[in-house]
Amino acid sequence: MRSDGGVPRRTDPYPRHLTALVLSGSRRSKSLNTRLARLAARHLTVIGVEVTLATLAEFDAPNYDQDAEDASGVPESPARLRDLLASSDAFLIVSPEYNASMPGGLKNLVDWVSRYRPQPFHQQHGLLMSASPSMAGGNRGLWALRVPLEHLGARVYPDMFSLARAHEAFDDVGRLRDEGLTSFFESTIEGFVDLVEARTHYPSLKTAWIEFLGEPHSHATARIDAPSQPTPAAPRN
Ligand code: FNR
Repeated sequence: MRSDGGVPRRTDPYPRHLTALVLSGSRRSKSLNTRLARLAARHLTVIGVEVTLATLAEFDAPNYDQDAEDASGVPESPARLRDLLASSDAFLIVSPEYNASMPGGLKNLVDWVSRYRPQPFHQQHGLLMSASPSMAGGNRGLWALRVPLEHLGARVYPDMFSLARAHEAFDDVGRLRDEGLTSFFESTIEGFVDLVEARTHYPSLKTAWIEFLGEPHSHATARIDAPSQPTPAAPRN
């Protein structure tokens, strides 16, 4: 551990192999959020995490429609996202803010993925980031995005990194121009990954995802996702 302008920084390698999915919530070719997602992926790789980097454009899905689901099931791209979540120790979403909320396409994708059982976001560690030309960096959109993810049982990291004035923030090779911001950005990722790594040592006793905790059971509201036997964590290397 070393200190970087008062910010504690990780220096030791993680004792276990970790993987992360980094998803940009923008479809735009020149997206600021995809640039930030690339930078996050780069830092994750530097600290020893294996990364899968993707953008929303790779997960096109029709508008959620329960009749379509009943007739044909969940489309292919949400299924791919479900698989990526299952095979990763953590996920990062780097998303634009649209009208003080998250982009509709991202919410649509979350809704489709939520139809799987076991619930794909349940118990998954997530870190949220955003970039915007505005002074708030798109942070309000992340608060909106946090709500459905936490509802679905994800463990969303308390800190969120929102890059303000993002159109001026990057240099020619995709790094942040500001050294202090770079330190905040990298230490946020390191703090998050520390928690993800710690979790691999301690399987959680909370195995069930219950959508309406505190409500008496009824057929109409029962959305309970409980394995019949708690399964021990598989040994990891
Ligand atoms: C925006 N933008 C925006 N920015 C912001 O900070 N707060 C907001 O509420 C909104 N709302 C909004 C709505 C819509 C429909 C669009 C298209 C844009 C601006 C947005 O942050 C900017 O276009 C970013 O560059 C979009 O992210 P990417 O595509 O560059 O990653």
